[in-house]
Amino acid sequence: AVLILLGPPGAGKGTQARMLEEKFGLVQLSTGDLLRDAVAAGTDAGNAAKAVMEAGDLVSDGIVIAILRDRMAEPDCSKGVILDGFPRTTVQAEALDGLLASSDQKINAAISLEVEDAEMVTRISGRYTCAGCGEGYHDTYKQPIEDGKCDKCGHTEFKRRADDNAETVASRLAAYHAQTAPLIDYYQAHGVLKGIDAMGQIDDIAQDLQGIVSEVM
Ligand code: AP5
Ligand code: ZN
Repeated sequence: AVLILLGPPGAGKGTQARMLEEKFGLVQLSTGDLLRDAVAAGTDAGNAAKAVMEAGDLVSDGIVIAILRDRMAEPDCSKGVILDGFPRTTVQAEALDGLLASSDQKINAAISLEVEDAEMVTRISGRYTCAGCGEGYHDTYKQPIEDGKCDKCGHTEFKRRADDNAETVASRLAAYHAQTAPLIDYYQAHGVLKGIDAMGQIDDIAQDLQGIVSEVM
C-alpha cells in the first residue's frame, strides 16, 4: 500500500503518520526526517540541503527524489509506506508515479490535512520531540503524561527543530501555497484525493484517518 499525507507545515502529518504506522504496520517515510538525518551525517546531499531548510525553502527535486528512491528500495518498505512530506512539487509527484509504475505499485490514497494558517503557526512554535525515539509533543496540546519523560521510551531529553521559528515558518507556508498546494488538484485528477478536516483533536483526526485508510487498503 502507498498512502500520501499532504498538508502544510504543522498540519500534523508526522503525528498522524506515526499513529497510522502503529495501527496498520506501514512504514512512515518523512523526507524532512531523511533530510535532517543527511544534514546530521554531513553527506553531500545533507550539506547542500542545510541552508535551504534553515531558510524554509524547498530542497531541490533531484536531491529529495534520490533520497526517497533509495529509502523506498529498502526491504522494510515492502510492508507498505506512508509518505509524509513527499511529494511537495509536481515534478516529485511525477517522479513518484514513475517509480511506482516500475515496481507495479499504485497510490491507494492521497489524504490532504486541511488546517488554517494561523493554527499551523501555533502548532509549529510549540512543537518539540523526544531525543530518544522522535515522538512528537507540544507545549500546550500534547505534553508527556509524566512531566519531562517520554511516554513512548522514557527518555528525558527533548529537542526543537532549527527551522521552527516565526521567520522560517512564514517561508515554509509560502512554499507550501506556491509549490505543494497544486498537488491537491493533481491527485483529485488522478482519483485518489481524500480531504480531511485537521483542525480538531489529534485523536479525532486519527479516527477519521483510520476510517479512510481501512477503506482504501
Ligand atoms: P518537514 O520535516 O516535512 O516539515 P513540514 O512539512 O514543515 O512539516 P512539519 O514536520 O513541520 O509538520 P507536520 O505536519 O509533520 O506536523 P506535526 O505532526 O509535527 O520539512 C522540513 C524541511 O525539509 C522543508 O521546509 C524543506 O526545506 C525540506 N523538505 C522536506 N521534504 C521535502 C520535499 N519533499 N521536497 C523539498 N524539500 C523538502 O505537528 C506539529 C505540532 O502540532 C506538534 O507539536 C504536534 O504535537 C501538534 N499537533 C499535531 N496535530 C495536532 C492537533 N490536531 N491539534 C493540536 N496540536 C497538534
Ligand atoms: Zn521517546
